[in-house]
Formats: sequence, structure tokens, C-alpha cells
Amino acid sequence: MPSIVSDPRSWQKQRKELAGTLGFVPTMGNLHEGHIALAKRAKAENHHVIVSLFVNPTQFNQRADYEKYARTFDADVKLLGEAGVDFVLYPDEPAMYPDKYDVQVIEKTISKELEGEFRPGHFEGMLTVVLKLLNIAQADRAYFGEKDFQQLTLVKKMVEAFFVPTEIIPCPTIRQEDGLALSSRNGRLSPEQRKQAVEISRLLKSSLSDDEIMKKLAEAGFKPEYVATKWGRRLAAAWLGDVRLIDNVPLSEVKKDKAA
Ligand code: PAF
Repeated sequence: MPSIVSDPRSWQKQRKELAGTLGFVPTMGNLHEGHIALAKRAKAENHHVIVSLFVNPTQFNQRADYEKYARTFDADVKLLGEAGVDFVLYPDEPAMYPDKYDVQVIEKTISKELEGEFRPGHFEGMLTVVLKLLNIAQADRAYFGEKDFQQLTLVKKMVEAFFVPTEIIPCPTIRQEDGLALSSRNGRLSPEQRKQAVEISRLLKSSLSDDEIMKKLAEAGFKPEYVATKWGRRLAAAWLGDVRLIDNVPLSEVKKDKAA
């Protein structure tokens, strides 16, 4: 079983005494196979692995969403143990925010578009907590899923801007057999919505234009927020009932012929 660490400063001391490389996977818990794939990759590439479980209040747009985010600590630790994870960083809010939320990381361009347009403040909250977590973990490598591609792009930009000495390793999105990207939110879909949800990845890979995909998603019962082509990817966000889904695919996987 992994050893549980709750105090950031005592972990930093412990880390100094640890010989060999350390891989880090930041999460908000409620783990699924996508997170476990990151932890296993970190384990394969490092001597030790630390995974953080911290539901970060500042990246939720609504307090209610933060409160209803599933906390599944025991199940998460069991899964991490089975994946060979050595340490679980499990700080509480005062430990993470001794500044009482006064100090923030602000990025002025990429963070304002796509997700940033529909979730104002989300990326400030995410970047701030990721910088804290990277500084606490003191890892050689940190593993991020490509599913949150804009997040990954921003984290890489921040690490470069602030000379953070941890290498950011992007990892491919893990999908279910029908193509739906794994997400903690999928568990909130009804069986009917679960069947519909696959349309996002199917349409993103089709030869349709971004605008045509917006229309098709609306016809299929989604409330799409954006479909855009950026950073060598096609990305989308859409609501299905009260569940917000995001996904993206590399342009190399987008069909070039018109048979959608
Ligand atoms: O992707 C997530 O789960 C979160 O945004 C992260 C990186 C753990 C920061 O809270």
C-alpha cells in the first residue's frame, strides 16, 4: 500500500532523502483507468511514484460542483496500490493554501479562449494549484493526460516560463471500446446519454468542418460550447444534460474524405 503524505513541507524533506528518480501524477481523485495508466507509466519510467489526490476548490466554476465532486479516497488508494504507486500526497485545503488564495498564477492569452471562455477563472485556479503541486512533489517527471489538452498546453507554458525543473510528459487519452474518452464525469451519464456521448469523438474524427460538427452535436441532443482546431488538434466541449464533456483528437486522426 502507498504511504500517505499530508504535509507538503515534510514531503519535501522526505524527497531529498529519496535516491533515484521520482514520477508525479497530479489528480483530483475519483480515479479511473485513465489515471491508472498515467501512474503505471510513471512507475515504468521512474524509481518512485507519487500521486496527489486533491480536489482543488479554485478551479471549479461553481461551489456546488466542487461539493458534489465524488471523493473516493479508499478506493483510489487501493487502485494506486495495485498500480505500484509508492506515495499518495493527500493535503487538506489549509495545507495547500497557506496564503489563503492570495497568490495566483495568471496566463494572459491561451487561458482566455475555448475552456477559458466558458469557464472563467478555471485556468488560474488550475495553474496555481499545479505550480504548488510541482513545487511540493519535487519530481523529475510529471505525467498529464492529453484529454485536457488545453490544460496540458498551459502547464507546459507555465513550466517553461517559471523554469520549473520537472519534465512534463504528455500521455495519450485512454478511451472506451466505442471511442468515448475516459472521464470521472462519465459516471454521471444515464445509460441513454452514455450511448449518445460517443458522438463527440466520432464527429471530431470525421471530415466535417468545425461548424458542421457544432450543428451535428446540437442535432444529436448536445448543447455544444465550442468545436475548434488548434495546436494540431480538433477540440470540443458539449453538455449532455447536466454533464459537461470535453474531448480532442490529433489532426492525424481526422478523416480527410467527406464520408462522415
Ligand atoms: O486534471 C486534473 O485532474 C486537475 O486539473 C489537476 C491537474 C489535478 C489540478 O487540480
